[in-house]
Amino acid sequence: MNAAESHQADRNILVGIETTCDETACAVVADGREVLAGVVASQIDLHARFGGVVPEIAGRAHLEAINTVISAALADSGVDPGDVSAVAVANQPGLIGSLLIGLMAAKTLAWVWDVPLIGVNHIHAHAYSPALDAGPIEYPAVALIASGGHTSLYLCRSPMEMDLLGATIDDAAGEAFDKVAAILKLGYPGGPAIERAASQGRDDAVRFPRTLLKGQSLDFSFSGIKTAVLYHDNGVPGAVRDGVARGLEHLSEQEIADIAAGFQAAVVDVMRIKLRRAVKATGARTLIIGGGVSANSALRQAVIKLGKKFDVTVRMPATEYCGDNAAMIAGLGFHYLRAGLTDTLELAATATVRK
Ligand code: KG4
Ligand code: ZN
Repeated sequence: MNAAESHQADRNILVGIETTCDETACAVVADGREVLAGVVASQIDLHARFGGVVPEIAGRAHLEAINTVISAALADSGVDPGDVSAVAVANQPGLIGSLLIGLMAAKTLAWVWDVPLIGVNHIHAHAYSPALDAGPIEYPAVALIASGGHTSLYLCRSPMEMDLLGATIDDAAGEAFDKVAAILKLGYPGGPAIERAASQGRDDAVRFPRTLLKGQSLDFSFSGIKTAVLYHDNGVPGAVRDGVARGLEHLSEQEIADIAAGFQAAVVDVMRIKLRRAVKATGARTLIIGGGVSANSALRQAVIKLGKKFDVTVRMPATEYCGDNAAMIAGLGFHYLRAGLTDTLELAATATVRK
């Protein structure tokens, strides 16, 4: 054994696989935080003309991409399969046809390499993503995970122990960004498009409602604000303004930018208020954001400010780890491996989980 080989042998190298939605991803991660390689094949172009993810198309595209993505990640990492300690896979929640492709690939690798298989909750992995290529997270932490499919608040006691504090009762935050972008004809995916438009607008030109729900609720609701944007553009159904039905064509580029900025400000405000409530209620000393929406710079700035005000450490993923990626799966999988929490080849995929 040469020096490089003995160094590899000291480390736990995990291969992670992620196919929950519309990204086919594989990563190789050492000791839970050092990302040796990460490959993400995005299907955005395939779904863009439908304005959202089409499950059948996603499943098929995962099947076509998965082998290439795994081979590329292994080659990039320079790791010999003989040095892999375990295979971690996101087996919940997600589109069932998509989950199954990743799960079958992971089972095959675990079986062929004769290493443990570890099922990882995709949302919990988003809460771990700030640790990638960075220092360990200090717990307890409050985590807000906001993506196209989920908006959830957790109290995290460790990377693996997550108590759900609240979640959306209707649309996910990312879904609201996508739908509002569609209303404003800004394109798909909506989050980055809204953020771009908002940068040209005034966030106080149009004030949209902040839905906070009753009392100190830590749940979210984003369907009302989406409807508010729709009514703002088109008028209440059946209504006419100045003798004509309102529509997008009546809006100038500046008005659209102002609406985007007003919408973004309302969503960020709600998230800031819920995070403040959660920090106060739990006494957590760390604040985490993750998921596709955590790439939003207005949200990031608001959370940094909140952290300063409450003297709480803020942990946010690097931009490349905000959206779906496999490094977060391998990273969190490492903690399961260390705790002896591995799965058998009977591991199932689960489309929905609320915890
Ligand atoms: O975590 P993710 O990549 O996939 C899911 O698990 O859903 O999140 C995708 C979502 C999309 O709804 C997208 O519009 C939103 O994250 N998103 C953003 C931004 N970038 C992506 N939302 C707001 N601002 C952004 N910059
Ligand atoms: Zn996600």
